[in-house]
Amino acid sequence: MSGTGTGPGNGSGPVGVAIVGAGVISGEYLRTLTAFPDVRVLGVADLDTARASAAARDHGVEVAGDVATVLGIPEVEIVVNLTVPAAHAEIATAALRAGKHVYGEKPLATTAETGDALLAEAAERGLLVGNAPDTFLGAGLQSALRAVRAGHIGTPVAAATAVQSLGPESWHPDPAFFYQPGAGPLFDIGPYYLTSLVALFGPVARVAATAARARARRTTGSGPKAGETFSVDVPTHVNALLEFASGPRASSVYSFDSSVRRIQFEVTGSEGTLGVPDPNTFRGPLLVRGHGDDDWRELPVEGATTGRGLGVLEMARALRSGQPHRASGALGLHVLKTMTAITDSAEAAEFRTVGPPAPGGAAFIAPEPLPEGWDPHASLLAGD
Ligand SMILES: NC(=O)c1ccc[n+]([C@@H]2O[C@H](COP(=O)([O-])OP(=O)(O)OC[C@H]3O[C@@H](n4cnc5c(N)ncnc54)[C@H](O)[C@@H]3O)[C@@H](O)[C@H]2O)c1
Repeated sequence: MSGTGTGPGNGSGPVGVAIVGAGVISGEYLRTLTAFPDVRVLGVADLDTARASAAARDHGVEVAGDVATVLGIPEVEIVVNLTVPAAHAEIATAALRAGKHVYGEKPLATTAETGDALLAEAAERGLLVGNAPDTFLGAGLQSALRAVRAGHIGTPVAAATAVQSLGPESWHPDPAFFYQPGAGPLFDIGPYYLTSLVALFGPVARVAATAARARARRTTGSGPKAGETFSVDVPTHVNALLEFASGPRASSVYSFDSSVRRIQFEVTGSEGTLGVPDPNTFRGPLLVRGHGDDDWRELPVEGATTGRGLGVLEMARALRSGQPHRASGALGLHVLKTMTAITDSAEAAEFRTVGPPAPGGAAFIAPEPLPEGWDPHASLLAGD
């Protein structure tokens, strides 16, 4: 393969990537990324090197081992960081210091200060940071973005979102991290809703919130650790009000305390309401209902449905073209600052403004919809 440059715009041909963190979600990334012609998965790493080896073997990846092993592969240009939230900043910083661009799972970091420091270091080194979620690059959310821009609901006024369940411990084999700082329903599921809302409306200006925790301990429900209990150190039911700088307001519920599963995402405008698909998926349906309509009607849903990894691919192509990438660290930092402002607001029982990037940090730019016909399976990066 070609493409050994490590600065933005350097190199040519498909972009070499390595995965760090071979847990539950790595299977989806490995499936999608190994199928995209514009990236090459060159290594898989984990603290548990046997797990890394198994994941590499399952997906035909040549190198597996510890983090230093994959950071040492010269052709790796982007490190895809799929570790638990508490390790996100540490692994991302190590990748930057090895001269690699980094794309990480959400959240960007567990605190706003760490997120700022990460983006400052990347900027100093001339390296890119990308951040999940990338579901907003999928067909469902891209079609919603285009529908709002095309005026299907008139001028956006408000949004109502809710995501409620009993939490992930019934199915995840190692769920304790979902109840530690950097997770909980707000930091774990919130990024899907907040990223989609800021893609629709632009930056959040201020928030007000309340938060509660139903239980101090929870129990793992499946796998070898079934029956083990762990502590809950974050709120598990969050109600938030958001004011966007461009005008619209949103009310949102994020809960792991509800025996009723609910996913709601409605955007209301001066002419009607859009029923936005589950932002934790890449698909539709997308619904619209005008003020005078008796029922919803479906709008066409067009775009990529391949799964997690679209953001890595889009960043890899941006690396070669020199264009800004959409699932960016600056967007991830704005979402992180919105979530920390929600947490602070709930603690202080007062409105909180959402902090700007630290001096020198890149301002958040609402990502433009992907160009029509954007195809993850196209081969745009010709080899040497
Ligand atoms: N599980 C899901 O459905 C899902 C969906 C979307 C996003 N995510 C996000 O993906 C990330 C990982 O989630 P998961 O469910 O795969 O977790 P997981 O616990 O199944 O896997 C995490 C892996 O990271 C490894 N790891 C932890 N610290 C490390 C370090 N310092 N160096 C190297 N490896 C390290 C662990 O050994 C483990 O194998 C989280 O940020 C989560 O929010 C998960």
